[in-house]
Amino acid sequence: MKPYLKVNEWRIIEEGFDPERNEVSESVFSIGNGYMGQRANFEEQYGGPSLQGSYMAGVYYPDKTRVGWWKNGYPEYFAKVLNSVNWIGIDVEIDGETLDLARCKTEDFVRTLDMREGTLSRSFTAVLPDGKRVRVESLRFVSVPYKEVGAIRYSVTPLDEPAELKLTPYLDADVVNKDSNYEEKFWDAIAQNAGLDYASVEVRTKKLDFRVASHMVYELAATGDEDQEFHVEADTHKREKFAGVTLSLRAEAGQSITLYKYAANVTSRDHLPEALADTARDLAEDARERGFDALLEAQREAWAEKWRDGDIAIEGDDKAQQAIRFNIFQLHQTYTGEDDRLNIGPKGFTGEKYGGSTYWDTEAYCLPFYLSTADQHVARNLLIYRYKHLEKAKENAAKLGFSKGALYPMVTMNGEECHNEWEITFEEIHRNGAIAYAIYNYVEYTGDTAYLGEYGFEVLAELSRFWEERVTYSERRGAYLILGVTGPNEYENNVNNNWYTNRMAAWTLEYTLEAANILKAENPEALEAVAERIGLTKAETDKWADISARMLLAEDPETGLFLQQDGFLDKEILPVAQLDRSNLPLNQKWSWDRILRSCYIKQADVLQGLFFLGDRYDLETKRRNFDFYEPITVHESSLSPCVHSILAGELGYTDKAYEMYLRTSRLDLDNYNNDTEDGCHTTSMAGTWMSVVHGFGGLRVRGGRLVLNPFSPDSWTSLSFKVGFRGARLKVTVSGGHTTVENEGPEAASLTLYGREIDLPAGESVSGERNPQAGAPDEAVEA
Ligand code: BGC
Repeated sequence: MKPYLKVNEWRIIEEGFDPERNEVSESVFSIGNGYMGQRANFEEQYGGPSLQGSYMAGVYYPDKTRVGWWKNGYPEYFAKVLNSVNWIGIDVEIDGETLDLARCKTEDFVRTLDMREGTLSRSFTAVLPDGKRVRVESLRFVSVPYKEVGAIRYSVTPLDEPAELKLTPYLDADVVNKDSNYEEKFWDAIAQNAGLDYASVEVRTKKLDFRVASHMVYELAATGDEDQEFHVEADTHKREKFAGVTLSLRAEAGQSITLYKYAANVTSRDHLPEALADTARDLAEDARERGFDALLEAQREAWAEKWRDGDIAIEGDDKAQQAIRFNIFQLHQTYTGEDDRLNIGPKGFTGEKYGGSTYWDTEAYCLPFYLSTADQHVARNLLIYRYKHLEKAKENAAKLGFSKGALYPMVTMNGEECHNEWEITFEEIHRNGAIAYAIYNYVEYTGDTAYLGEYGFEVLAELSRFWEERVTYSERRGAYLILGVTGPNEYENNVNNNWYTNRMAAWTLEYTLEAANILKAENPEALEAVAERIGLTKAETDKWADISARMLLAEDPETGLFLQQDGFLDKEILPVAQLDRSNLPLNQKWSWDRILRSCYIKQADVLQGLFFLGDRYDLETKRRNFDFYEPITVHESSLSPCVHSILAGELGYTDKAYEMYLRTSRLDLDNYNNDTEDGCHTTSMAGTWMSVVHGFGGLRVRGGRLVLNPFSPDSWTSLSFKVGFRGARLKVTVSGGHTTVENEGPEAASLTLYGREIDLPAGESVSGERNPQAGAPDEAVEA
C-alpha cells in the first residue's frame, strides 16, 4: 500500500492533487459537528470523479425497497440519509475561464484537516487552460458552538497579471443521492431567493415532509491599498432549488480577493416549518456579524475542550498518533449527544453507504467511547434513542409473528427495520443482546441505576419477552436452543445455536432479573410502575430464570471450545495464513456458497462474547478459544480487529494486539480495504479507540471501580489517554509496564491499578508497575 497522506500528529495532509484519490480524500477530510456533515468536496466546480455530500443529521428518505424476490416481513422502504443543500459552493471565473481542477494543472496543492481546531483547508496554484496562474486558498468549518452554521474563507489571487474575477457563492438543493434505488430526486422546491447580499433556498422531501432552509450571506475583502476604490458588481441568480449571487470585480496581479461565506442550514426537525426561512436568515446574519475570525476562535475553543477530555497521546510512533486522533476526531464530528433522536451511522457524515442508519455498531462499539470521553448525558442519550424506539421494536417482533416482546431492527432510522436481506438482517437477532449489554455497560460505568427505573428495565423486560418466545426447548438435548440465526459472523447464515447469540440471550434474561433486584432494593415504586404498565407476571420472570439457566451453550467435550454453532467443528479447518493470498478478500473472490460452508469468520463472534462477558471467563478459556478462532478469522468487517486486539492484549499476546490495532487504526487513512471513497468506517473508529483504552489500557469497570491494567506496545515510548469516570477526569500515562494515573478532578476516583485498589482524590496521582505474569484485567496483580 503506497502511503499517500503525510504523517503529522494533529493534521491530515494531502500534498499534490491526484484525481484518482479524490473521492477517498473527500471522505477522509470530511468535517461535521453532529448536526451536519460535509464531505471534502471542492467549493469551486469540479468535473472529475466526486461524491457530493452535505448531510443534515436525522433528515432521511424512505426509498422504496428494491429486491429481486419478495419475502413476507420485508420492509417497504430503506431509509437513507439525504444528500442535502450544497452550501459550500463558490463558482470561480477568471477572465471568463471557469476554475475547475479537472481542467487545469495544479501546483503546490495541499489539503489539510486540522483536527486540533476542526477545520479543513486547501491551497493550490492553478494553471488555467490559457496559461494564467491563480493562487487559491480556502478554509472552512462547520461550527461546533453554532451548530447550524458553516463558514468559508476563500481567497483568489491572480499571480501574473490583473484579472477580471467572478465569484459566485450559491446554495444548491438540486442534488441527488448516488444510492437512490430508482434514480429519483428526493427534494421538492419550496422557495429560492437571492438579493445583492444574500441567497436562500427552502426545500422539502418528497416523502415525510422534512424541510430544510439554507441562507447564505457573504463579505468580500481585498488586500492592498485601503483607500483604493474597490468596485464590485453583484448579480443574482435563481432557478428551482438554487440561488446565488455573482460578484464581479477586477483584481490586480498579486492582489488577493477574499470571500467570506456564512451559511446557516436549519431543518423542520428543530423548528416550525413556517419559521425556517427566517431562522436560517437570522443565524446566517448573526454569523456574519460575529465575523469569521471570532467564529474560528470559538471553534478552536470548542475543540480544545473535546481534546482536553479525551485526547490520546502516543510518543515514539507518529503514524499511530495521527491515526488515533483521526479516529477520535471523526467520532466527535459524528455524534455529540445533544439530540436523543440521533445516532451514529457506520459511515457517520462521510458518505451514503449504509444509509446513515443505526446498526448494533452503536451499542457494541461506540458507546464505550462516549462513556469515557464525553459528559454522561451523551451516552445516556444513545440509550434513550433505543428506548424511544421500543414501541416500533415491539411492532417489529409482531410483524415477524411474535405475540410479545421487542426485536430491535438490524438497520434503522426511525425504529422500523429498513433492511431486507433475510439471512443477515432478520436472522441477526443477536442485536437485541447488544442493546441489553449497552444498558448494563452504561449503568456499570456511571452508577446511574436511576436509568433502569426510568427507561432501562422496560427495554430489558421486552427484550427478555422476545427471547422467551424465540427459544425452542429441546427434550432431546434437555436445553433451550435458538435455531435459525446469523451470528455476528455474517459468513455463516441460518445456523443453529450460535454460541454468541445464545450466550447473550441467556445473559440478557439474567441481567433483566438482576436489574429488577437492583430496582427492588433502590426504587421499588419505579419497578412496580413499570411492571404494572407492561403487565409483567411472576410466571414470566420464573420462565426467564429457567431459560437463562438451561440455555444451550455448546462446548466441545474434547477441546473445551465454545462452538460457534452446532456444526462448526464439522468444517474443514485451515488457518487463513495457509490460504493463498490471492483468495482474499473472500467476499470479492469467492462465491457465497463457498464462503458459507468454509470455516472462515468475517468478524469476532465467539470472541465478541468473551470480550463482552470477560469477567465470567478465565484466561485459559479465553486463550483456548482465541487460539482456535483467531487464525481462521479474515476480519472482513472493520469491526473485527479491535475485539481481537483487546483480547490479545489481555492474553499477553502483545505483538498480535499491536498488529490488530494497526489494522484498525489507519483503515481509512491508508484506505486499507480499498473502499474509503464510500465514506470512513466511523463506527469501527470507536473500536480502534477501545483497542487502545480497553486493550492497551486494560480498562474495565468492576464493582463500581475503574480497573486499569495498562501496557504500551514496545515501539511506543509512551501512551497517555484520558477518561472520565463518575465525575473524575483521569489521565493515564503508560510507559512499558509503568503507569501513572493523575486525577484532574473534580471528583475522587475509585480505581484498581494492576490489582491494587486505590481511592484517588482529585488533584492527586498514583503509579504502579505491571506484573508481566498477570494478563487479564480481572486477574491482574501488582508486582
Ligand atoms: C458487519 C456488521 C455491521 C455492519 C455495519 C457489516 O459489514 O458485518 O456487523 O453492523 O457492517 O457496520
